[in-house]
Amino acid sequence: MKRVSILTAIVWVAAATWALVPAYVSTQGFVEAPTGFDNATNGFVDQDMFDAALDTFAEQEFIADGLGPVYNAQSCGECHQNPVTGAISQITEHRAGRFRQGVFTGIPGGSLLHSRATNAAIQEHMPASANVDTFRTSLNTLGDGFVEAIDDATLQGIAAEQSLMTRGRIGGEIVMVPVFEAGNALRAGRFGWKDQQASLVSFSADAYLNEMGITSPLQPTENTSNGRFVGFGSRFDPTPEPENVEDVQAFATFMRATKAPSRDSRIAATPEAQRGEQVFNDLGCNICHRPSIVTAPAGTSINGGTFTVPEALGDKIIHPYGDFLLHDIGTGDGIVQNGGPTTRNKMRTAPLWGLRTHNRLMHDGLSFTLTDAILRHRGEAFRETHRFRGLHARETAELLTFLSSL
Ligand code: HEC
Ligand code: HEC
Repeated sequence: MKRVSILTAIVWVAAATWALVPAYVSTQGFVEAPTGFDNATNGFVDQDMFDAALDTFAEQEFIADGLGPVYNAQSCGECHQNPVTGAISQITEHRAGRFRQGVFTGIPGGSLLHSRATNAAIQEHMPASANVDTFRTSLNTLGDGFVEAIDDATLQGIAAEQSLMTRGRIGGEIVMVPVFEAGNALRAGRFGWKDQQASLVSFSADAYLNEMGITSPLQPTENTSNGRFVGFGSRFDPTPEPENVEDVQAFATFMRATKAPSRDSRIAATPEAQRGEQVFNDLGCNICHRPSIVTAPAGTSINGGTFTVPEALGDKIIHPYGDFLLHDIGTGDGIVQNGGPTTRNKMRTAPLWGLRTHNRLMHDGLSFTLTDAILRHRGEAFRETHRFRGLHARETAELLTFLSSL
């Protein structure tokens, strides 16, 4: 019994100091990561190399380049473009699966239903066996080099701290996912709505195959059409695998060299927005939407030893307003990806940096106002939503002003 009361005391002291220590790691002495929607390098590579990598990211591909046979769009830039290449867009993807007797199983061809095909005969459709499906919005990739440079231990620390602060009510889940370029060595996932990837090279190979239908040495197997083979050797695909051996690295280089999304400095400077951030913290939104995270020191070996954090990305403070962890806030889309069955109804905390650059919110893009997005939070976040409902009109206005500066 005594142990319980000591633990309770620790929790209360920790909770009382919560407002004073919003970040897991002290940010003192670290340098702010560069921000801006300005098509300029963050220093990871020089501007010429950045421009060349950006061109590759934005380049349209055609059948002769390996596009398809099933795909979603012709370039990375098509879905990651607003307000500049690498950012976000309104484009959604459709995922589906089957859930029966407590078990999630895929459907033939995997959970991603491609919306386009190079031949009308092989257009994918949702099979009758699917009984779970969801939209997923495109995500911002600007600043993702900094996110990649976050140590696994930092994410673990955030998860442990959440649990301590809230007596286990909130506890982000980490999923360990394979890094393709490191022989599938495991690392804490941080990219995608399900934290399904940990490295930008792996995500790039995955996206090149799954979004554009272009195979590469890290993802050499062409997608099927609802389970039917349509790759090289069938009449639908004239290009042998791997269809491209260079671009995956260029995509990763581009994203690693992007600056993080910037705030609207005019709105952020207003007393109203500043009071709004205080409301955000007082409500407990910052437990998941972490205002600050520090990247690993330059020289740290990450991604299973295949990448060393460079000066430009190491020891930097970022303001993602996210924790890159999975939570069940009652919005889960029922799809299992690289995580286990426990991740079925969890989503990654949406990083709120760059929030003002898109108007279709949440993973499915089906919330059109900030208030609606906030009111959809239940589950682990039910208490924060309850407090939000209890705000005075002036505090609500301040909170929304703050959010509109992100
Ligand atoms: C058809 C639209 C589309 C295309 C084309 C596309 N993406 Fe994406 N991208 C998305 C969507 C949707 C997500 C969220 C996927 C999910 O988690 O379900 C995403 C997520 C990402 C992420 C994760 C960002 C984060 O911070 O979590 C990265 C990185 C990424 N894409 C890179 C690429 C690259 C590189 C290409 C080109 C090879 C590409 N994408 C092509 C739609 C697209
Ligand atoms: C338990 C963790 C948690 C807490 C606490 C939390 N959120 Fe979230 N938030 C999430 C997750 C997870 C998502 C993504 C859910 C989805 O897409 O289904 C999200 C999404 C959002 C979005 C949509 C962003 C976008 O890009 O679509 C906004 C806005 C938001 N949260 C604001 C808030 C505010 C304001 C509070 C406090 C009242 C709050 N959140 C508290 C986890 C949390």
